[in-house]
Amino acid sequence: MAGRRAALDVLVLAAGIGKRLRSKTIKLLHPVAGRPMVAHVLEAAAELRPRSLVTVIGHQAERMREALGDGATRFVLQREPLGTGHAVLQAARSVDPRGTLLVLNGDLPMIRPATLRRFVAQHRRSGAVLSVLTAEVADPTGYGRVVRDGRGALRAVVEHRDASPEVRRIREINCGIYCAQFAVLLPTLRRLTPNTAQGEYYLTDAVRGLIERGQKVAAVLHDDAEELMGVNTRHELARAARTLYARKAEALQAAGVTLLDAERTWIDPRARIGPDTLIYPNVIIEGESRVGRDCVVGPGCRLTDSTVGAGAQILDYCVMQDSHIGPGARVGPFARLRPGSILEAGSRVGNFVEIKKTRLGRGSKANHLTYLGDATIGPDCNIGAGTITCNYDGANKHVTVLGRGVFVGSDTQLVAPIDIGDGAYVGAGATITKDVPAGALALSRSPQKNIEGWVARRARRGRSKARR
Ligand code: UD1
Ligand code: CA
Repeated sequence: MAGRRAALDVLVLAAGIGKRLRSKTIKLLHPVAGRPMVAHVLEAAAELRPRSLVTVIGHQAERMREALGDGATRFVLQREPLGTGHAVLQAARSVDPRGTLLVLNGDLPMIRPATLRRFVAQHRRSGAVLSVLTAEVADPTGYGRVVRDGRGALRAVVEHRDASPEVRRIREINCGIYCAQFAVLLPTLRRLTPNTAQGEYYLTDAVRGLIERGQKVAAVLHDDAEELMGVNTRHELARAARTLYARKAEALQAAGVTLLDAERTWIDPRARIGPDTLIYPNVIIEGESRVGRDCVVGPGCRLTDSTVGAGAQILDYCVMQDSHIGPGARVGPFARLRPGSILEAGSRVGNFVEIKKTRLGRGSKANHLTYLGDATIGPDCNIGAGTITCNYDGANKHVTVLGRGVFVGSDTQLVAPIDIGDGAYVGAGATITKDVPAGALALSRSPQKNIEGWVARRARRGRSKARR
C-alpha cells in the first residue's frame, strides 16, 4: 500500500425532522425493531471501529442525546436544518480533516457493516476524493438521481425536485452514503450556495462542485437495494422493521432455533436464544432478552428484557418484563410477570397469576389465580389457588417472607409485613396478619355452622306469604 492509510471517521446526519412520518417525534427516533432508527446506523458504523463517530443533531437534540447517549457517539449541533451539506460542515471543527470521512444519512436502519466496510475499501482503492454509494430501484421517486455520462462516469446527483422528466426516468439513486477525503470536501462545502427550490445547502451539490473542479468522484453501485432504502414514511418504517426481524429470524434458524412461523415472530436483534428452543407464532421478544436452549415459548407471549433458563417452558399468552425464569421452570398459560420476578429452577407458575418483585424458590408452585408482590418464597412451597399477598397498605409496600416447604391453602390473604416459618401450614380461606412460626398450622376462618332443615322451612314460609 502506498503510504499510510488515512484514519476513518464517521459522520451520521441526524438533525432533520422527517416530516413525511407526520409525527411529533422526529423520524430518526422512531423505533425500528426495538431501537431508534438511527441507533441501527450508529451500531453498523461502530462495527468499522472508526477513529471517531460523530452524529449531527438538531431537532429534538435533547431527546437524541438521551436516546443515544451511551458513549457510542459524540454529538455536534446543527442549529438550523439548512440541508445535508450544511450538516456535514458542522463537523468541521470536531473531526480531523486529514482523514477519510464516511457520511451516512441517519435514516438507513437496514445498512450492514459489511457493506460499509466494502464501500470504504473501494473508495480508498479508487483514489477518488469522493465516492457515492448507489442502488438501482424500481421506483426512484423522491430520491436523488445518479447522472452518468456516456462512458459511465458520474456527472452529478440531481434531487428529484430539481430533475427534468428525463432525469427522473433514471433508476439509479443516491443512497445517502458517501466517503470522502474530508480535507478536499470541506472547501467545496464552504462554497455551496443554497439550492434554489428549497433554500437548503445540498451535500449532493458538492458532488457536482468537485467534478467541475476536475476532481475524481466515483459512484459505487450496490446490488442489494433494499438494504440501502431510506425510511421516510410509516410504510417504509414498517418495511424496515420487517427486514430486520426477518434477518434476525434467519440468524436464529441458522443457530438451531425453531420458529414455527418466522414471519409472525418478532425477535429483537439484540436478543439471544439457544439451540433447540421452539418458538410459536405471535411471540414478541424485546430488548436484551435471553432464552436458553431446549425451551418452549408458546403462542402470543411477550418477553421484555427477561432471561429464561435452559429447558424452561413458557406456555401460551404470558407477559413478562425484567424477569428471570430459572432452568426447567414452567410458566403459564396466561401468567403475568412484572419487573423483578425471579422464578428459580423447576418452579411453576400457572394461569392467571401475577407476580411482582418476588422470588419464588426452587420447585415452588403458584399454579392458579394468585398475586404475589414484594415476597420472598423459599423452596418447595405450595401456594394455593387465590392466594394474595396484601403488600400495599395505601401508603407503603410491605414484604412477605415464606421459608422452605410452606403450604398455603387456597383463598388466603397474607397481610404484609408477614413472615411464615419453614414447613408451616396455612389453612384455606385464611387472612394471615401475624407471623406463623416454623412447623405451625395457622387458621383464621370463622367456625362453620350448619342449620338443619333451613331450606324446607324457608320454602314453606314463602308459600304461606303468597296465599295471604
Ligand atoms: C437525501 C439526498 C438524496 C438521496 C436520499 C437518500 C440530499 C440533498 N439528498 O435526500 O439525494 O437520494 O437522501 O435517502 O442530501 N439532515 C440533517 N440536517 C439537515 C437536513 C437533513 O442532519 O439540515 C439529515 C436527516 O436527518 C437525514 C439525512 O440528513 O438523516 C437525509 O435527509 P433527508 O431529508 O432524509 O434527505 P432526502 O430528502 O431523503
Ligand atoms: Ca431520506
